[in-house]
Amino acid sequence: MTHKNTVIVTGGNGFIGTNLVRLLIDSRQYRVVNLDALTYAANPLSLADLEGHRDYEFVKGSITDRQLVDSLFQKYKPRGVLHLAAESHVDRSILSAADFVETNVVGTYTMLEAARSYWNTLPAELKKEFRFLHVSTDEVFGSLGEEGYFSEETPYAPQNPYSASKAASDHFVRAFHHTYGLPTIITNCSNNYGPYQFPEKMIPLMILNALSGKPLPVYGDGSNVRDWIYVEDHCKAVRLVFERGKPGEVYAVGAGNEQKNINLVGQICRILDDIAPPVEAPQLREQGLKSYSELIRFVEDRLGHDQRYAIDASKVKRELGWQPAVGFEAGLRQTIEWYLSNPKWVDQASGGSYAEWIEKNYAWRANKESK
Ligand code: NAD
Ligand code: DAU
Repeated sequence: MTHKNTVIVTGGNGFIGTNLVRLLIDSRQYRVVNLDALTYAANPLSLADLEGHRDYEFVKGSITDRQLVDSLFQKYKPRGVLHLAAESHVDRSILSAADFVETNVVGTYTMLEAARSYWNTLPAELKKEFRFLHVSTDEVFGSLGEEGYFSEETPYAPQNPYSASKAASDHFVRAFHHTYGLPTIITNCSNNYGPYQFPEKMIPLMILNALSGKPLPVYGDGSNVRDWIYVEDHCKAVRLVFERGKPGEVYAVGAGNEQKNINLVGQICRILDDIAPPVEAPQLREQGLKSYSELIRFVEDRLGHDQRYAIDASKVKRELGWQPAVGFEAGLRQTIEWYLSNPKWVDQASGGSYAEWIEKNYAWRANKESK
């Protein structure tokens, strides 16, 4: 194993990070150094089976810790960075954006400075090969009306504190390429779903609430649209862009799968009715539910709720040959089955500070049903 295929992945214990680390390790072409602060959003069980793996090193620490990050570049001499660490939940950013500024903006800046000073010391050939890939979001483009798509050409127009912090980090990444020539690339991807997603996000939240007979809180009138991609398809795009993308370029990633929130919640309920019928669940017997859809509640809307996201992914398809492989119905079933089969992971994720957060975020929503 040489430095050529050693990479630093930040945020490897999060949802997308876990899936990406697994993809890289399974390919047997990478040695992964995972730098993760293990915030509330990380689940130590997610990558527990990789402990001691010869191609995997875990480092607990923050991307804002310049000394630590410098020491990792010196020690592991990576061929690149796949930067995912972030505060990622819009609702939390609405309650307070301080951690979002610290991690997403200051943390990304710190990673860039550390990468630049390491990159400056490399011989010409390695300098050319080095990549800093920033995994970003389509939310930086704001919100769409009924028509149109986000693409690499869409002007930035973030509308919530999370997307503002991601937009700021994207701008630093672009600036480091333009100003210093650091070989950076950005991917802007749509909503991911799949195994290992923290239960504060919509899909796992609906699955787990339904299974415990709790209300399914749909914000506003449920007409907001998200463009869903199975996390493995996103990770394959990230790997491809890292290996074959052009420095200085941006790639929009999405699977062309728009869903209205209310329809998606209905679909989750139908699949659950099929594979874990409420009439057969002892914990739900008292409620007498015939379908999980009886739990749907329209609640107070998210402040500044973006109406519609949709991605035109033709560039990454045309230039790099990427294609999503997992259809939505199949991916959703697989995801639901994964949550049903991993109760220990779910317990770990649902306890601790998350339980307090749910109290804080949802207590007021639950009291403000809009319909
Ligand atoms: P996540 O919240 O599940 O995981 C984030 C990870 O980053 C956690 O393991 C956390 O411990 C770690 N982290 C947080 N602050 C850190 C710090 N200061 N130092 C080191 N580690 C820290 O997020 P996710 O959904 O996996 O998203 C990963 C990246 O992809 C983010 O940058 C996000 O903006 C981007 N993204 C997410 C989606 C999506 O739908 N989830 C879509 C597009 C882009
Ligand atoms: O578009 C990419 C983004 O997708 C990522 O950058 C973010 O990190 C990721 O969290 C996600 O943001 P969203 O805000 O779109 O995801 P979330 O799962 O929080 O919500 C999806 C939609 O569902 C959104 O319209 C709000 C709505 N929603 C969400 C929750 C948690 C509900 O109606 N009820 C809920 O309880």
